[in-house]
Amino acid sequence: MKILVLGADGYLGWPTCMYFSQRGHEVLGVDNYFRRYASIELDCEPLMPAPNLLQRAQVWQELTGKRIEMAIGDITDYNFLLEIFKHFHPEAVIHYAEQPSAPYSMIDRDKAAFTVQNNLLGTLNIAYAVKETDPACHIVKLGTMGEYGTPNIDIEEGWLDIEHKGRQDTFLFPRQASSLYHTSKIQDTDLLWFYVRTWGIRVTDLMQGPVYGLSTEESDLDERLMPLFNYDEVFGTVLNRFIVQAVSGYPLTVYGRGGQTRGYLNIKDTMQCVYLSATQPSRPGELRIFNQVTETFSVTELAEKVKAVGDRLGHKVEINSVPNPRAEKEEHYYNPKYSGLLDLGLKPHFLTEDVLADMFRVVEKYQDRINRNAIFRGISWK
Ligand SMILES: NC(=O)c1ccc[n+]([C@@H]2O[C@H](COP(=O)([O-])OP(=O)(O)OC[C@H]3O[C@@H](n4cnc5c(N)ncnc54)[C@H](O)[C@@H]3O)[C@@H](O)[C@H]2O)c1
Repeated sequence: MKILVLGADGYLGWPTCMYFSQRGHEVLGVDNYFRRYASIELDCEPLMPAPNLLQRAQVWQELTGKRIEMAIGDITDYNFLLEIFKHFHPEAVIHYAEQPSAPYSMIDRDKAAFTVQNNLLGTLNIAYAVKETDPACHIVKLGTMGEYGTPNIDIEEGWLDIEHKGRQDTFLFPRQASSLYHTSKIQDTDLLWFYVRTWGIRVTDLMQGPVYGLSTEESDLDERLMPLFNYDEVFGTVLNRFIVQAVSGYPLTVYGRGGQTRGYLNIKDTMQCVYLSATQPSRPGELRIFNQVTETFSVTELAEKVKAVGDRLGHKVEINSVPNPRAEKEEHYYNPKYSGLLDLGLKPHFLTEDVLADMFRVVEKYQDRINRNAIFRGISWK
């Protein structure tokens, strides 16, 4: 297949380019380096040095003989994006190219405005480019489990059957996010649902939980192929952050009571989920939604797992409850359904002690690069 990966430089985008390329697909990656620039601006650069996208594609070609085409540009520039579609004629587009951080979206008005503009305009442009060039092209969009929030009922996969005054219908599952970033993802879903209904385009929206992990089979070939790995408060996800904190002797920052429960997955499973979705597309006129997680944990459970493995490896890991800078429930009901991707063929990698120990070993190699000032600054929701 011809696969267009938008956000190809990012934590998930670059491993995805390699994953499809390795399996014989033709890949074009696009990125505007927003994440790299923002990490420099906020002094929270990734743990491992990552060659730029063109250099990484070059390393990949030297090692495997496979070519990944790259284009540097901004998908909110419609003419740029349209030219990409006309030149490449993708059969599927994997859409990662968004501002992906809740704290970033809460820093100030300008970053909130950027988040809304970047995320919604990018998604709108993709819908238009698909309609104008090939409405059969399948959009695989990365959403987030955070769209649902923490309702006091089970979270279904995208949709909810409602019976009201003796009549029945099916609607998008109610969404109520707890950050502006997550709210922009809800609006993305709504935008795509509108164009699915109106133009009959085909979309898979993946409600993904926080991802952890530093490597995939492809990135293991050479350290220059590793993903952009952030461990800071702005761009790091919780488990990745805890491992870096444990290695650098920084007490694990559990927010408030630590009962916040979420669904998690290994980066290797993100690769599988996106691949399974792209190679088994939704139908024209269908918005297909999967909850992309493999197991659920509370923050305290994660901290305890990291401490147990870290202590065994000789780190003296402390857990520290810090005042919660976010506005969120610290204890709540949480029971998401996530069988759709398993039905498509997902074989999960669960969070075992061995997986955690492997992550520790990689982080230990780069511990001299850890910037302790980036770990926690308390970006407040209020
Ligand atoms: N990493 C996670 O745990 C996680 C969890 C749930 C959902 N997601 C979603 O998955 C997607 C990818 O996440 P990630 O962790 O790889 O983030 P990332 O920031 O590492 O990757 C996104 C990439 O998109 C690029 N980008 C942003 N705006 C762009 C634009 N206008 N034009 C071109 N490129 C642009 C960035 O430079 C970056 O390289 C995001 O949409 C995010 O919301 C991620």
